[in-house]
Amino acid sequence: MCGIIGYSGPLEAGNILLNGLSQLEYRGYDSAGIGYFDTASKVHVVKETGKVAKLKETLSSAGDGSHCGIGHTRWATHGGVSDVNAHPHRAGRVTLIHNGIIENYHRLTQEFDLESSLLSQTDSEVAAWILDRFYDGDAQSAIRKLAECIVGSYAFCIMFDDRPGEIYAIRSVSPLVASYTPSGALIASDLTALIPYTKSYFVVPEGHIVKITGYKISVFNLDGEKTAPEMMEINWNTDAAMKNGFPHFMLKEIHEQPEAMKNTILPRMAKGLPDFTDDGIPDDIFAGCSQIHIVACGTAMHAGMVARALMEPVLRIPVMVSIASEFRYEEPLINEHTLVIIISQSGETIDTLAALRLSKSYGSRTLSIVNVKGSTIARESDYVLYTHAGPEIAVASTKAYSVQLAALYMISCRMALVRGSFTKSQASAFLTDLLDAIPAMETMISRKIEEKNMVTHLINQQDTFFMGRGLDYAFSLEGALKLKEISYIHAEAYAAGELKHGTIALITQDVPVIAIATQEHVFSKMISNVREVKARGAFVILLTKEHAQADQGLADIHIRIPDLDDRFTVFPIAVILQLIAYYASVGKNLDVDQPRNLAKSVTVE
Ligand code: F6R
Repeated sequence: MCGIIGYSGPLEAGNILLNGLSQLEYRGYDSAGIGYFDTASKVHVVKETGKVAKLKETLSSAGDGSHCGIGHTRWATHGGVSDVNAHPHRAGRVTLIHNGIIENYHRLTQEFDLESSLLSQTDSEVAAWILDRFYDGDAQSAIRKLAECIVGSYAFCIMFDDRPGEIYAIRSVSPLVASYTPSGALIASDLTALIPYTKSYFVVPEGHIVKITGYKISVFNLDGEKTAPEMMEINWNTDAAMKNGFPHFMLKEIHEQPEAMKNTILPRMAKGLPDFTDDGIPDDIFAGCSQIHIVACGTAMHAGMVARALMEPVLRIPVMVSIASEFRYEEPLINEHTLVIIISQSGETIDTLAALRLSKSYGSRTLSIVNVKGSTIARESDYVLYTHAGPEIAVASTKAYSVQLAALYMISCRMALVRGSFTKSQASAFLTDLLDAIPAMETMISRKIEEKNMVTHLINQQDTFFMGRGLDYAFSLEGALKLKEISYIHAEAYAAGELKHGTIALITQDVPVIAIATQEHVFSKMISNVREVKARGAFVILLTKEHAQADQGLADIHIRIPDLDDRFTVFPIAVILQLIAYYASVGKNLDVDQPRNLAKSVTVE
């Protein structure tokens, strides 16, 4: 939520800030702005509603000659989408950008008697004014006092009028990474903005103040002592964050899935078996647990639903899946014998992070599956299994989902081996099947899904239904989410046997039903459910394995995936469901990569 960038150095700050904002735009895109010191060391702010491209046009040559500035791309929380609510905010001698939520901003407004000073409806401007009140020439002391007042999450980048060339930053929960490079010093919400300039960076430690000048970055704890942050290496390259000839990031990321799968699986295979030695994950966390609790949000939670359906029959222990935003306010039935698996692409989702912290307070052991190296969830978990998808830029998650599944499949396999549910040869066969899913994904990527007339049919409908049984039901949850979020077509996923307990009332002539029928033990039941909706006039898109027996005419469109063991069909099915959503969005001429109201990384509640 909200992208932040700051730069001080020898290059033109305007270009660096705007390019950085373009890279970070997937974090929020309802308004954008920059603040900078001009050649006479005077601060200017330019901000407006709309995307970064619009800001670029507005700015044209503004900012030329500047060597220090901050930029922000917003996802509105407090206060609607308007020019005045866009960041940076100016308050007296302070210019400030913020990512996060200041929960006590209302009380602070009264306490500091700010009502008449505020121009915007944002919580962020309140912070800017308080900082100005505290500022007496000592930037660090003012920032410390501000931090003491605030309840909530924040990443701030701040400039003071009388300190040209300097940027100060502080964070609590909301992410910030920084790097000193030959091109100058940079700070940003995430690595995508740093990739063009550096391979090394550090995560701004919570409760520390960062001071950036054109020639160095210094980090201080709240006692004013200098500290040395832990430097980390970026293993993503610039290409990974570019479209590389694809019309959209989402399509590029769909195509990247086979490679991402290999990168996630192969380094963790030794003698044909799953091996987490290099990840530092000990077998005793698998051997010693009596239940598994998976916690995540959105797509990551759907990966957890697949894992539950996969793991329980093999491991014969309870596997529960919780939505992080619910779990964090419950009194979960977990204890020191529970393995809590946390899944997050960004590693920054606030509800998932809170769920992790809650799990630790119950004494549970925590293993997280995370894509972004060094992210908060990765750092705070007992153990982390990184997925190697590279940066995922499209707001709709695709390759991160596949690799989360791959990681979960490997964990299941290792766990089954350690607990004696699998013999070595069964574990090895399981991994061979997992690897076989990769060419099946490639096959589906190369099939011309868009040429089937389903997209034309889908885009003219208001509602769609996805249905499946067992693992297929778990897959359909993600299919429905993908379609909703980027095509704005209402979609519901149903366990196929449940449809007739109410929802079938909504099936009328031409309502699209996407039926997933890859699980052999319930195949005939699924086909009966397909007949039930077909009899009511539904437009049926049926997904089965290559050699499944399905009568001619049962479906309006029948897509066949390569024959795989039932447990692995999710991988090619995920590709089809992603492509269906993608082409529906393209067919409706929508913004595929940045759908309305959404942002990539949900760092506010
Ligand atoms: C949907 C999507 C979201 C995320 C969710 C969790 O396409 O991307 O539902 O899966 O916001 O995000 P992470 O995995 O970063 O915790």
